[in-house]
Amino acid sequence: MDVAAPGIAATTGRAPRPADPCAFVVFGAGGDLTKRLLLPALYNLAAGKLLPEGFALVGVARAPWSGDEFRDRMRSALKEFATDGVAAKTLDALLRHCYYVRGDFDDPAIYDALKRQLADLGRSAGTQGNGLFYLATPPELFAPVARHLGEAGLAKEDNGHWRRLIIEKPFGFDLNSACALNAELLRVFAEHQIYRIDHYLGKETVQNIMVLRFANGMFEPIWNRHHIEHVQITVAETVSVENRGKLYDHTGALRDMVPNHLFQLLALTAMEPPSCFDALPVRTEKLKAIEAIHPLTHEKALADVVRGQYVAGRVGGKDVADYRAAAGVSPQSITETYVAMRLAIDNWRWAGVPFYLRTGKALAARKTEIAIKFRSAPLALFRDMPVDNLAQNLLVLRIQPDEGAALHFNAKIPGPEIRIENVRMNFKYEDYFDAAPATGYETLIYDCMIADQMLFQRAIDIEAGWRAVDPILKAWQEAGGRDLCTYPAGSEGPDAAQRLFLHSGQPWRPIT
Ligand code: BG6
Repeated sequence: MDVAAPGIAATTGRAPRPADPCAFVVFGAGGDLTKRLLLPALYNLAAGKLLPEGFALVGVARAPWSGDEFRDRMRSALKEFATDGVAAKTLDALLRHCYYVRGDFDDPAIYDALKRQLADLGRSAGTQGNGLFYLATPPELFAPVARHLGEAGLAKEDNGHWRRLIIEKPFGFDLNSACALNAELLRVFAEHQIYRIDHYLGKETVQNIMVLRFANGMFEPIWNRHHIEHVQITVAETVSVENRGKLYDHTGALRDMVPNHLFQLLALTAMEPPSCFDALPVRTEKLKAIEAIHPLTHEKALADVVRGQYVAGRVGGKDVADYRAAAGVSPQSITETYVAMRLAIDNWRWAGVPFYLRTGKALAARKTEIAIKFRSAPLALFRDMPVDNLAQNLLVLRIQPDEGAALHFNAKIPGPEIRIENVRMNFKYEDYFDAAPATGYETLIYDCMIADQMLFQRAIDIEAGWRAVDPILKAWQEAGGRDLCTYPAGSEGPDAAQRLFLHSGQPWRPIT
């Protein structure tokens, strides 16, 4: 194999091999996720020669399309959403084994049809009876589709073939619903068959956090409470709710972003070194970090968490109306579009080191970063100088955009007197690596095909995330909208978020 697909991390240092033969079955094949992400990712895998010889794509949806119509739609979708140029030969090869099963997801007949199809493909397309079921459906269909798959015998791994289920987010609405969904899925599929996706783990820069920490000897000795004062994790978005108002108004920033994406960033930052880069040790160490988040009492959930909702403003030169005026949003909505919190991680490494997390929509800039603030140097040596001039020692991991990392420190300004300036050593991915554009789903799909669960969440991982945010959801429910702040679209978020900082003079890093 001499061509690496975009987005495939060579975690082992070996060139990746083509994935195992399988049929990739997408429920919800007519939807946006399939068009915008799954298909382009499959194409990129095909272009990188990482799809197996024995491969078939089976779309399942309600639309009354013929197989040819489905293939035509996939062809045009790819032309629109491919991350790079599309080679006719690769596309034809991908679509040669592309099939469509039409029907209602509640109708047992489609599962029988699917069963026949998989058996046929085993013979005609060399998929060996292996099946990967991707649920690109609304979340309320996850459990019913899984149940039907089980009833049709499609979840059974016998005669040497495998069956896997990929579940998108949102995984549950709170702790109880996530546990209930896990229980339903686990009635049909075993844990090793279930791949719960958090698309943040498909991002190269997110995967790089572990490499930065554990493949470099210099960070680990200072990666603890003796040297780190606090950690700030920011996922700022410029997009407003746009056309997702109806769904978003029932979700809010906390559920949408924190137990999943932000906690993944937190876990990778806070985890202990795993014994090796395998799914079990890596997921176990991440889980331990999430489980060490100090449970918030009702009072703490209100004091240490700030929620906000955007009001009219301008983002990137464009007017944005009040959140409450967005289509599908209740005019009295108390749904938060911004959340910031201070968390404590109760373990030997992190005791006393606050972790500040924030995320919001319609903010001043799009920026995802992890900023590690190191303890300041003793100031005695510079007592005659304005202390304000001393830079904060920071390591900033830029997840997106402008992917890279920067180290901030103090340097002497050349000249006869001691004058100090804050300087920055800056690493940019683009200066070193020539990665082809990718969707971020390539690695995730490939890993499902080779049964590598490292980048996926187990039932216990998902539940641990919800357990940590559940007290906040409950406290907010009791408080009604009392503590909800507002912030102008295009701003840095509500001013109240500043109160989370224990030490004066330690503000949030500017988003812009
Ligand atoms: C999704 C959320 O999971 O992540 C969206 O539902 C959010 O609301 C998106 O916009 C952010 O992802 P990314 O990759 O653009 O940072």
